[in-house]
Amino acid sequence: MAKSKTKTRFACTACGYSTPKWMGRCPECGEWNTLEEELIEAAGARPSLSPKSISKPVPIGQIDAHGGEVRVRTGLSELDNVLGGGLVSGSITLLGGDPGVGKSTLLLMACERFASKGLPVLYVSGEESTRQIQLRAQRLGVTSDSLLVLAHTDWEHIERTAREAKPVVMVVDSVQTVAVPHLTSIPGSVGQVREVAHRAMLFAKQTGTSVLLVGHVTKQGDIAGPKVLEHFVDTVLHFEGDGRSALRVLRTVKNRFGAAGELGLFEMVDHGMRQVPDASARLLAERVADAAGTAVTAALEGSRPMLSEVQALVGPASPGNPARTCVGVDRTRVLMLAAVLGKCGIPLHDRDLFVNAAGGVRLGEPAADLAILAAASSSLLDLAVPDDVVLIGEVGLVGEVRAVSHPQLRLKEAARHGFRRVFGPRSLAAEAPEGVHVIGVRTVRELLDQLFG
Ligand code: TYD
Ligand code: MG
Repeated sequence: MAKSKTKTRFACTACGYSTPKWMGRCPECGEWNTLEEELIEAAGARPSLSPKSISKPVPIGQIDAHGGEVRVRTGLSELDNVLGGGLVSGSITLLGGDPGVGKSTLLLMACERFASKGLPVLYVSGEESTRQIQLRAQRLGVTSDSLLVLAHTDWEHIERTAREAKPVVMVVDSVQTVAVPHLTSIPGSVGQVREVAHRAMLFAKQTGTSVLLVGHVTKQGDIAGPKVLEHFVDTVLHFEGDGRSALRVLRTVKNRFGAAGELGLFEMVDHGMRQVPDASARLLAERVADAAGTAVTAALEGSRPMLSEVQALVGPASPGNPARTCVGVDRTRVLMLAAVLGKCGIPLHDRDLFVNAAGGVRLGEPAADLAILAAASSSLLDLAVPDDVVLIGEVGLVGEVRAVSHPQLRLKEAARHGFRRVFGPRSLAAEAPEGVHVIGVRTVRELLDQLFG
């Protein structure tokens, strides 16, 4: 396409108004900074997505759900599971995460796994030179000849190269550094990111190549601005680390080919990313026995049970507003639990309270309530929760202990790691696996009596 023929316009992301010139404020809806540059192309200039076979409507029952769906596995089970059983051919995946969390490392390792099966793989980097990539590759032991590396930032060149090289898997690291030449906006702007990702998607669907886009998370926590890519890619993965530990969590935020909410665990070591197949063992490894202020819960991440330690520290009464510091647990939930404890004779209203999910995990589920509550009361009373106890259960505002989802998965995980007693809602008793004694409690008061009474 000749550059001179290509025209762009600026469209308002809030109301759709378009204008040939950029303006700071949309004259239609009055919003500021919503005009984004986009390409105007003649009808037919843009390649169409639909092959002939899907241009007619078909009865839903006659569609072969798995027809044409080919998956390639990396052999890194922590990654394959998060992808829903491997990477689907022709799919487009966005891997988001903070700079430095290990996205390039993880994907280079995945590329090596594909390439060592003899699959042609293209790793495109707009951030690092081939020399830098090679240095990283040396560190990771990545040597496959089927892995091609390209350091470039012009999407059109990248696409041409890819059409020649015909890779089965292509990584674009990162979508914010690659640009389409016709747009005048800088790489990383919303217009560029959207255009590059759109073209990458067309390329993936037309050629059957699985494309993985790396996206840096901006300060607001969104991938490349206002989550512009998440709705049209097939799969969105987030790679997270808390900066405190080497533990890295890979999460499925969205997946058109599998369940969302799945989780993979890795550890950053000096020769790359190591899988952590037994999350519970890893999270409990540093636990101190018989210490007051800790309790273990069986959390569920996607379909994966994980035993995690909740730590609490109740400080002495201090003047002014008491501190409420929460790491890895929901603050609002902790405030509510502190209020419930107050009703049960464990006053926290004038004391500092620190709650921490150990190991850098996030306990977002209400099923962790009982453990948070036990850890806080244990700290205040200076009495340890016995070593062989796991606590599972949601706590309501009147102090009632409520049922949790997938109790069996959680109880089995507790049994597998040698825990012999589980405190939880009464309904849990019916599910107890061999070797585990379930102590059903109806209320928080009952729990406190049983644990510390
Ligand atoms: P990187 O994969 O470059 O992060 P991202 O692509 O998400 O920005 O990883 C960067 C960090 O990882 C860097 O600080 C060094 C560290 N690292 C290791 O600890 N071990 C390794 O084997 C590698 C390659 C990097
Ligand atoms: Mg990187």
